[in-house]
Amino acid sequence: MTTDLESPLEWVKNPNARSLERSPAVSAILPPGIAQAARGFHRQIPGYRTTPLKGLGNLAAMLGLGGIWVKDESVRLNISSFKVLGGSFAIYRQARRTLGLSDDRKISFSELTSPEMREHLGNLTFATATDGNHGRGVAWAAKALGLKAFIYVHSGTSRARIRAIEEFGARVTVVKGTYDDAVRQVAEDAAREGWQIISDTSWKGYEEIPSWIMQGYTTLFSEAQEQLAGQGLIRPTHLFMQAGVGALAATGIGYYHMLFGKEAPISVVVEPLHANCLLRSARAADGEPHNMAGALDTIMAGLACGEPSPIAWKILWDCADVFMACPDYVAAKGMRVYGIPLAGDPPVISGESGAVTLGALMFIMESPHGAVLREQLGLGPDSQVLLVNSEGNTDPEYFRRVAWEGVNPVPPEFLYEPPAGRS
Ligand SMILES: Cc1ncc(COP(=O)(O)O)c(C=O)c1O
Repeated sequence: MTTDLESPLEWVKNPNARSLERSPAVSAILPPGIAQAARGFHRQIPGYRTTPLKGLGNLAAMLGLGGIWVKDESVRLNISSFKVLGGSFAIYRQARRTLGLSDDRKISFSELTSPEMREHLGNLTFATATDGNHGRGVAWAAKALGLKAFIYVHSGTSRARIRAIEEFGARVTVVKGTYDDAVRQVAEDAAREGWQIISDTSWKGYEEIPSWIMQGYTTLFSEAQEQLAGQGLIRPTHLFMQAGVGALAATGIGYYHMLFGKEAPISVVVEPLHANCLLRSARAADGEPHNMAGALDTIMAGLACGEPSPIAWKILWDCADVFMACPDYVAAKGMRVYGIPLAGDPPVISGESGAVTLGALMFIMESPHGAVLREQLGLGPDSQVLLVNSEGNTDPEYFRRVAWEGVNPVPPEFLYEPPAGRS
């Protein structure tokens, strides 16, 4: 038993959660009909397919849960991440605006990407900062429209992630520092060069495009809802969402708030221990987002953010139940469990940022340190937990190091020990 050791997990209950029947922040960013609009757009993209919802029934039984459902975004449009849903929808909306199209003027994806439209779009050039996945989505969408994209990454970004962006013809600039430094640099350069920023994070005076990006993410949740209905489930009981700036988590949690109000699934926002700006903001309990400084040292590249997106934060403050932060080995364990499942469960290929929620759920269910949180969240045999595998093998070298070489192992003091009498 390990109960005399300090828990490696940090968590805090959101004091503001479930105080509102309807969150104004959710209504503003995810207005009625937006999920249908986003999905209607995505459906026209050549190669669009609903991504699988995989049931890990045997793992759920082993952990004492009713079900674990994984929305597997590793196969989204062959781009290996959900991010393309947001970048493409925002670029679509921006292109419509540049073309001066009214809201009721329908335009198909093939019309939008035609040479004639390209002429009308003129010199429109996109730019964004990224940890890799968002930049790849923006580069993909810009290429589809025949337009240029400038993508800024921070100096810790792996070669593989940079190459994956360049594959779509975008120019990549490496900025010294963190993701947040790259965000500042691209804002400065774009203002000088006249590029249109398509950022997944917001800041004062720049909120509309990040809200379009969040609207684009709704497609994965509306697909998941239909897939759960096909399994006879009205909704999940719990939702675990990984977070960097918080846009994905806010979309998922906001989407369920939009559908079910105070009856929405219990939600947990999961961050890396050394990049936990949302948890810190919740802990400050003043309703404001709080930035953190430092190296943001984590293997979870997609979640290495020190500054919450203010528009996402508003939704999380209104609706997220718990914020938690995990060490890197929790994500690495999640990757291995996804990739080498129990017999009968389907394998899931998941990168560090994609897998952390499974690792966190397992730690809560298996470890003595998870007992209090397990009870507070009401996790048990009646629970149907929804997770999002937000990325596939986006950094093959690191993936192999984790999966094959076993880097970032669970420390011996936190190794799972089956209860006495269980083999
Ligand atoms: C794979 C992956 N998962 C999750 C996230 C988190 O999204 P957000 O920054 O909106 O919180 C990211 C962000 O880049 C990501 O790349």
